[in-house]
Amino acid sequence: MPSQKRSQSSDDTSPVPQKRRRILTDNNHRSAKTPKPKPDGKQQKSLIQLHFCTDNTVLRTCPSCSLSYTKGVPEDEALHSTHCARIQRGMEWGREEERERVKADVREIEAGVRLKSGVKGRIICFRADVGGRTGSKVTTILQTVNLALSAPPLTPQVLRECKLYLFLVPYQPKSGASREKIVGCVVAQHIKSAMAIATSAVASEATTIGEAASLVTVDTGMGIFCYPEHLPTPMGIPRLFVASTHRRQGIASKLLTTAAKTFIHGYELDPRKGEVAFTQPTGDGNAIMLKWGGGEVRIYSG
Ligand SMILES: CC(C)(COP(=O)(O)OP(=O)(O)OC[C@H]1O[C@@H](n2cnc3c(N)ncnc32)[C@H](O)[C@@H]1OP(=O)(O)O)[C@@H](O)C(=O)NCCC(=O)NCCS
Ligand SMILES: [Zn+2]
Repeated sequence: MPSQKRSQSSDDTSPVPQKRRRILTDNNHRSAKTPKPKPDGKQQKSLIQLHFCTDNTVLRTCPSCSLSYTKGVPEDEALHSTHCARIQRGMEWGREEERERVKADVREIEAGVRLKSGVKGRIICFRADVGGRTGSKVTTILQTVNLALSAPPLTPQVLRECKLYLFLVPYQPKSGASREKIVGCVVAQHIKSAMAIATSAVASEATTIGEAASLVTVDTGMGIFCYPEHLPTPMGIPRLFVASTHRRQGIASKLLTTAAKTFIHGYELDPRKGEVAFTQPTGDGNAIMLKWGGGEVRIYSG
């Protein structure tokens, strides 16, 4: 199974079985540099064995999806190629899912949503613990997102508290009629409480006067610190993902806004009033959290 590295590395192609490359020296495992002179004064010849690595598998980290997989192992390459295509271009929302729409209680929340590129898409929503064909699609989406984020699976108990919001755009496969692709996904969860993020000014002052311990450290690298009080907060976002070739088009913002408006029947949540929380964000997640929530999005532990 390929593993995923969080950091984007360049196209690194270091061979896996490095230990097999070592060159053995003499039979007695002594240093070959200073062979002991024989009693008769003749130099003892050292025996050198060369071990060549004959398999040509290499561990490769894909620069597009960050997945580490073994090149040369067909199953690994196939898993990578499927994952990579999903990360970059999304996955299909098929006719069968559409056919199951009523049974799975899939609701179209908004249609004709215009992106920066001019492309128009739609937002659909349904329960994350749905079964059937739609449930299998949820499993695939979440597996892909979890692998991309190096995040653990959401438990069945958490999924029961969640709704999925998907952004669909039309696409034309080489053969056949127009289809739709899932290019963005927001998981929204019913939660009880979350912590407010301290402004960077408060965090740096607390550090200066030696009171940093009064704040909860979320991420020192990004400078995210929270006040320790758990404040009542109705909606959490445990997963958020947009296919890489569709980013910076406003998809995540539109999904989050739709989730905030519709998650609780009859009440629109306002992220700028601290009514929405994220789990520990990634760098991209932090950027959108600040832009979309104006610094008032809270943090919870998922
Ligand atoms: C985070 C993520 C979902 C954002 O999706 P998106 O559709 O590109 O976000 P939007 O287009 O709605 O971004 C809205 C604004 O947020 C900010 N923003 C979003 N991503 C950003 C980034 N990578 N760097 C800097 N600012 C960013 C920008 O201000 C952007 O507005 P702009 O494009 O006009 O400058 C996407 O980058 C992603 O899937 N990343 C990988 C998975 C991940 O890290 N998820 C977050 C888990 S907490
Ligand atoms: Zn890849």
